Amino acid sequence: MDERGGTILVTGGCGFIGTHLCHALVNAGQRVRVLDDLSTGRAGGIPEAAELIVGDVADPVAVGEAMAGVDGIVHLAAIASVARCNDDWVASHRTNLTGTLTIMAAARAAAPVPLPVVWASSAAIYGAARALPIGERTAPAPLSPYGADKLGGELHGAAAADLFGIANTALRFFNVYGPGQDPHSPYSGVISIFADRLSRGEGIRIDGDGGQTRDFVYVGDVVRALDTALDRLMRRRRLRREAAFDAVNVCTGRPVTIAVLAETLRALTGSRGSIAYGAPRPGDIRDSVGDASRMHRLLGLRAETRLEDGLRALIEARPAKVA
Ligand SMILES: NC(=O)c1ccc[n+]([C@@H]2O[C@H](COP(=O)([O-])OP(=O)(O)OC[C@H]3O[C@@H](n4cnc5c(N)ncnc54)[C@H](O)[C@@H]3O)[C@@H](O)[C@H]2O)c1
Repeated sequence: MDERGGTILVTGGCGFIGTHLCHALVNAGQRVRVLDDLSTGRAGGIPEAAELIVGDVADPVAVGEAMAGVDGIVHLAAIASVARCNDDWVASHRTNLTGTLTIMAAARAAAPVPLPVVWASSAAIYGAARALPIGERTAPAPLSPYGADKLGGELHGAAAADLFGIANTALRFFNVYGPGQDPHSPYSGVISIFADRLSRGEGIRIDGDGGQTRDFVYVGDVVRALDTALDRLMRRRRLRREAAFDAVNVCTGRPVTIAVLAETLRALTGSRGSIAYGAPRPGDIRDSVGDASRMHRLLGLRAETRLEDGLRALIEARPAKVA
């Protein structure tokens, strides 16, 4: 990780991915400051050594305060649920796009060189891509306000690099899973819900025939991608390299069907819970798998965690197991 020193600002650091990142950074001896409004995140999850500022990422005053004395930024704060963004269109736009711009504007104000920003984009920018695997050159066609705002952030990110010299890397996460994902929110992802129900011996219902595929990437691999991308930008800044915008898929490149996912979880939990099939969800994308080659070329990384190992870690981290 680092001979880089200094302080890293992590927005959304109290969330699922942010909490893992903060622990990894602190364990590596890095000073960490978190800006989070605690709307879905938990203050108790971050390491004691991390400083927490409770505030809104779209509020320039809070962001200015959080930015003081910082050497690099990882921007994760967002309303991360597609469904919640559909329900709360304008408010989610404020967080998901204005928030990203507010961070970039504050990064721009750093003298003499703007601060580098690594930030969370999403595979949602691709929409229902027809050709698989989905590479970064696939034309974006988001199908949701959430995806549209992430794409908007990328367009601003590219302009910000060219015009204002803000080096920034958008990491397009595919479906991230791992310990610490809340299974109880109505907006939770499929893995945390299935793992929770099966661990309690309850049945699960798959929407559709279970043949739909996703690219599930373990949170530990996502943290390594964030950390490596930031390290790269901070080095380039020290060397006074020209600022650039990059967009990089963070994925495994391996498609997994929902049926296989459900069976694997049932086997790992030892559950007798049933697996039922229902009507397909309207608008559900049939297949999604990313091309991981750019992540390897640019960051020298592969998402190596095998699905079974990642799922086992998630199940073992659950507070109570009543099979
Ligand atoms: N989890 C995934 O599968 C996935 C996939 C693609 C992209 N992403 C992106 O990765 C990032 C992190 O996602 P996550 O899964 O950890 O989500 P999360 O909801 O667990 O974390 C988001 C954090 O941002 C905070 N936050 C929300 N609005 C805020 C605001 N206005 N000001 C300050 N803080 C605010 C929340 O309190 C929370 O701590 C998000 O940008 C998300 O869009 C996640």
